[in-house]
Amino acid sequence: MSKSYWIRTFGCQMNEHDSERMAGLLEVQGYRPAPSAEQADVVIFNTCAIRENADNRLYGNLGTMKRIKQERPGMQVVVGGCLAEKDRDLVVQKAPWVDVVFGTRNIEALPGLLGAAERQGIPVVEFSEALQVFPSALPSRRGSKIHAWVAIQYGCNNSCTFCIVPSVRGVEASRRIGDVLGEVKDLVSDGVVEVSLLGQNVNSYGRDVYGTPRFADLLLALDGIPGLSRVRFTSPHPKDFREPVARAMAESSVVCEHLHLPVQSGSTRLLKEMKRSYSRERYLEKIWMARRLVPGLAITTDIIVGFPGETEEDFADTLSLVEEVGYDAAYTFQYSPRPGTVAGVRTDQVPKPVVQERFDRLLAAQERISLQRNQDQVGGELEVLVEGPSRKEPGRATTRTRTNKLVHVPNPCDALREGMFARVRITAAAPHHLEGELVG
Ligand code: SAH
Ligand code: SF4
Ligand code: F3S
Repeated sequence: MSKSYWIRTFGCQMNEHDSERMAGLLEVQGYRPAPSAEQADVVIFNTCAIRENADNRLYGNLGTMKRIKQERPGMQVVVGGCLAEKDRDLVVQKAPWVDVVFGTRNIEALPGLLGAAERQGIPVVEFSEALQVFPSALPSRRGSKIHAWVAIQYGCNNSCTFCIVPSVRGVEASRRIGDVLGEVKDLVSDGVVEVSLLGQNVNSYGRDVYGTPRFADLLLALDGIPGLSRVRFTSPHPKDFREPVARAMAESSVVCEHLHLPVQSGSTRLLKEMKRSYSRERYLEKIWMARRLVPGLAITTDIIVGFPGETEEDFADTLSLVEEVGYDAAYTFQYSPRPGTVAGVRTDQVPKPVVQERFDRLLAAQERISLQRNQDQVGGELEVLVEGPSRKEPGRATTRTRTNKLVHVPNPCDALREGMFARVRITAAAPHHLEGELVG
């Protein structure tokens, strides 16, 4: 009988995508998906290291696996991803029942490492400092029929002082435009209508292979692929986000009117200490430039609250920036000190209750602004892509606008199927979704 696998993914879309590759590799070897971790022959944790609570969760999960493994000898437990990169040998020191620990730059090694661990009967720990094979060249098992992640760049060359990503993901490596286009064409012929381009710093896409950033060129080239309807991307870094990319967004009929531009803080003083290479004013100029060039643009962001040394005045600057931009949505994070980062060793960490109080204020402000932005849509007509039946409410479909807003639409006769485009009139708004009805 064939063996089965189960993967639990933490962290960002890049990790989701890496998990699809791990699944693809295992399926080529004859493995099939298991219904639960308890029933799987191979259990993989694809981990994230961006904030500290991830560490505790992994070791908690591994504790549970120890008990399951005692009842099912022969089962293999694997730890991959960014936290594996950070902890390396420490993983097997803390959890000696783990069979394989591997990194983000040697995903292709997974089947071989499983075999080696089985033969040797001891944990196998293997990492690679450089990207061996672009994961995009590996087989994949996608989570959706109509949407696909497409990695265009791995690693990050920036050195934001709060961030662990460069140390766990390595330096930037871009794929060639022709390779990306080839993959997208294959996906479209397989039924995909929407792709999300992934990279830590997509604006600098291409610099390492072409000597100059080519992200705008890539966006324009994607416009010519028949059958491809929507292109999204994440994340651009504000430092390198310039007019050619905004113009390409406007010019291309497939690139969606949504920009995720992580600001982190509204205080120029803190931005400098974060080494973000832009001031509040430069960031705002980029926002106005993008709004001017791309009509109907929705803008979202990432914000960190409680970076070391953050004063009430710095935080007030973040609050006022959020009001000034009027984001459609913001992902807000409480600062978490990371080992090996410049900010992680600072002695002026902001006390937890102060961070919590500021975080709550920011969240409340953003909820109000998100609701306002969504209420502005009520009465309007929009094109949506159907993602499938609503998970929570039977008889309704979950759909998405080009601006990346969720719209719930009544679907009594099940006419709206995954992958269909429809026109809807927006009837009601909430902070995180819209309600709509079919037009015509
Ligand atoms: N490359 C992306 C960010 C990837 S990490 C970019 O620069 O836009 C995603 C988000 O996690 C960051 O934008 C930041 O808001 C948050 N983050 C990163 N390190 C963090 C830390 N140490 N504590 C809290 N949030 C953090
Ligand atoms: Fe981290 Fe900065 Fe790189 Fe983003 S750009 S991954 S925040 S170092
Ligand atoms: Fe992503 Fe977390 Fe790694 S955010 S790049 S999985 S540290």
